Amino acid sequence: MAGRNLIIFGPPGAGKGTQAPRLAAEFGLPHVATGDMFRAHQREGTALGLRAKAYMEAGELVPDTLVIEMLVERIGQADAADGFLLDGFPRTVAQAVALDVELAANGSRIDALLVLDVTEEDVVTRISGRLVCANGHVFHETFSPPAVAAVCDTCGLALARRADDEPDVVRNRYRNVYLAQTAPVRDHYTALGVPALDVDGTGSTDAVYERLRTALQRP
Ligand code: AP5
Repeated sequence: MAGRNLIIFGPPGAGKGTQAPRLAAEFGLPHVATGDMFRAHQREGTALGLRAKAYMEAGELVPDTLVIEMLVERIGQADAADGFLLDGFPRTVAQAVALDVELAANGSRIDALLVLDVTEEDVVTRISGRLVCANGHVFHETFSPPAVAAVCDTCGLALARRADDEPDVVRNRYRNVYLAQTAPVRDHYTALGVPALDVDGTGSTDAVYERLRTALQRP
């Protein structure tokens, strides 16, 4: 396995939140998803959740200072001492640099990016049918429907659309945010010699999962 500090990377709707929990469980890593963390803060009504809400609903990035502080606190917890799978972070080069500085202070670094490759059309089709529960379990009306309509198979909570999944917001997240601000994070790590493991993100979720496992197990 290519080290234990991993990032799952790709545009909104690429399947990061679908694949990461399974991958993290198999490889014994905590799944650290900044989008899920912000949504939990919103449900709990914290000051951080309130500050993040308007940015998220518009499909814009939450300011770096807020997300970096939250992330650094999370990876400082005991369960992340031997590695982690980051999902949704870093999303700007400034976030990547802050993460690198934090890891370097502990003699550590990012070991690999797992990059899910999908097209803009895949993104829009997937997100337009996405259903999620409050615990972040992900379904799709057509591609992975729940056994009982609008009920989470895993925890029994109600399923609903996300506020930022409207088509106009999705296109903003893909074009103006992902391509413009997040894609350069990959170049940042390439310049540091960190491998980016490209994985075809199309096909069934099981097929994508097997490709991810294979990429991680490659020497
Ligand atoms: P976040 O929650 O991270 O959203 P995202 O990156 O935009 O990613 P998504 O959750 O939309 O997609 P995904 O790749 O996880 O796809 P999924 O598995 O659900 O962030 C939300 C917001 O929070 C941001 O816009 C920002 O405002 C803020 N934020 C978070 N982190 C931040 C940061 N670091 N800095 C600043 N702001 C931050 O799959 C999508 C759908 O496709 C599902 O319905 C699924 O069932 C389906 N699907 C998955 N795989 C397949 C397949 N193989 N075939 C068919 N359908 C599939």
